[in-house]
Amino acid sequence: MSDKNTYAVTGAFGYSGKYIAAKLLSQNKRVITLTNSINRPNPFGTKVKACKFNFDNQAELVKSLSEVKTLINTYWVRFNHKTFKHSEAVDNTLILFEAAKAAGVEKIVHVSISNPSKTSHLEYFSGKAILEEALINTGISHSILRPTIIFGQEDILINNIAWMVRTMPIMGVFGDGKYKVQPIHVLDLAETAVQEAENPNNIIIEAIGEETYEYKELVKTIANILGINRKIISVSNGFGYFMSKIIGWWKNDYVVTREEIDGLKSNLLYTPDAKPIGKIKLSQWIQENKNTLGKVYSNELQRRKMIEKSYEELKTNN
Ligand SMILES: NC(=O)c1ccc[n+]([C@@H]2O[C@H](COP(=O)([O-])OP(=O)(O)OC[C@H]3O[C@@H](n4cnc5c(N)ncnc54)[C@H](OP(=O)(O)O)[C@@H]3O)[C@@H](O)[C@H]2O)c1
Repeated sequence: MSDKNTYAVTGAFGYSGKYIAAKLLSQNKRVITLTNSINRPNPFGTKVKACKFNFDNQAELVKSLSEVKTLINTYWVRFNHKTFKHSEAVDNTLILFEAAKAAGVEKIVHVSISNPSKTSHLEYFSGKAILEEALINTGISHSILRPTIIFGQEDILINNIAWMVRTMPIMGVFGDGKYKVQPIHVLDLAETAVQEAENPNNIIIEAIGEETYEYKELVKTIANILGINRKIISVSNGFGYFMSKIIGWWKNDYVVTREEIDGLKSNLLYTPDAKPIGKIKLSQWIQENKNTLGKVYSNELQRRKMIEKSYEELKTNN
């Protein structure tokens, strides 16, 4: 063991990375962050130094990681867009792993996805599988966390379902709505990531929460807790996607992609044999946040375009 004492967390001014950094700081750990959004407000002040990812400058990236004992990696892109692609996220993450190896990083905690598969036709899931394999092949001690949906104040999916329930006269679900999801609270994910930072062994953890929902049941649960009586109808993928495009034009965002619909309906956000690790129940969290949940639409593309604003600011300015 070396005397390195720094933890690098990607995206500490974003969503899950912020909770992971906060948890590390609560344990008096020395934390830096790697980010593309160096000018987003830093909620940790001088306690967390921000370094650019520098994916195009390996030497600088290695330098940023030179004091780092453990890297906690959340970096990924949600969908393909003209300004970012899954394939670039794969290439960049491979660069990050190589740099970590060159810098002598001793442990990598990597946030992946449920059901990654190299043979999946969905790039989200095949890209994540390529990265898991590459991480294992680095020979660096690793813990791989596989969440399905991460819920919390800055979450997009649960918030935007609630927003639609509040805004739309009728709610549509793709097909029969019987496919399942197992959301985990961001604090539970952060706690696991920080625990795993100290685990010298290699492990893969299905990072799922206490409650499993069929998608239609999830929409119903959100509507019931918000106290909104909304008719929920089944729609075809094509019609549902068309409606999401209309909302997308209105909000200037990608509400949901065809790939995401496919992944959801193929039960890729469900791992039937896994034991839950999350303690915070989604239903209880919705109850506690029912006065604010879904009041404002959460916009993924704005987060990418306005990289000098915090996710919270973007939500209030929406
Ligand atoms: N959110 C969920 O419900 C969910 C569900 C399952 C799995 N996951 C996984 O959990 C991890 C963290 O997700 P998160 O929602 O917490 O993400 P996030 O904080 O919004 O972003 C995580 C990191 O990825 C970077 N990033 C995100 N989108 C990008 C883009 N389009 N172009 C360039 N960089 C981008 C961010 O860059 P900046 O630092 O510059 O902002 C940040 O460093 C990801 O690996 C994701 O696959 C998330």
